[in-house]
Amino acid sequence: MLYPMEFNRAWREAVSLGLTRRTRLYRDEIQLLCHIFRHTKSYLEVGVYDGLSAYLVGACTEAKHITLVDINENKYIVTVLESLGINVETCWTRIEDLELNRPHAWCLLDADHSYEGTKAAYDKCFGLATSIVLHDVEMPEVSKLFNEFTGVKIVSSQTSYTSPDGKVLPPLGYGIVK
Ligand SMILES: C[S@@+](CC[C@H](N)C(=O)[O-])C[C@H]1O[C@@H](n2cnc3c(N)ncnc32)[C@H](O)[C@@H]1O
Repeated sequence: MLYPMEFNRAWREAVSLGLTRRTRLYRDEIQLLCHIFRHTKSYLEVGVYDGLSAYLVGACTEAKHITLVDINENKYIVTVLESLGINVETCWTRIEDLELNRPHAWCLLDADHSYEGTKAAYDKCFGLATSIVLHDVEMPEVSKLFNEFTGVKIVSSQTSYTSPDGKVLPPLGYGIVK
């Protein structure tokens, strides 16, 4: 087995855990992201929501430590990640107020999708992560920031996608900017 868990199995587990009900992610985008970072041991996620991306990263990479940052507490995803043997640190706070010194291999920014909000999160996490990934780089404000940074973009090969909650999604995309 290439990963701790094969991606399609992890997605099925995420469905059965209820993590896909509201979250809108393109499967092929997050699968490729997990593949690129599969050998990393630590991960910082800003913008957790129901925890779908946190779970997929936890299940499909070698992450042993995950830090979750969100305004809203989510105890459920912490329990789920800990059941995978992952050490989970939580910061239920605004990213702007984050006080954290622990370095991480990489960080996913998926919280405030305004230009200013994404830039503020990037600045806050710059010294905390070796690599930084933005979600929703196909959306106008994040796209503007991504184009200033430049980087590697991951965009779904699907032209149309209906998310588990029945919404037809515009392209989302990840951008690796550091
Ligand atoms: C798009 S959702 C994240 C989706 C998640 N990555 C997933 O896979 O389900 C955005 C999340 O960012 C959080 N958020 C928004 N602004 C924030 C901020 N300034 N600081 C921390 N969290 C924030 C929201 O509470 C929400 O849970």
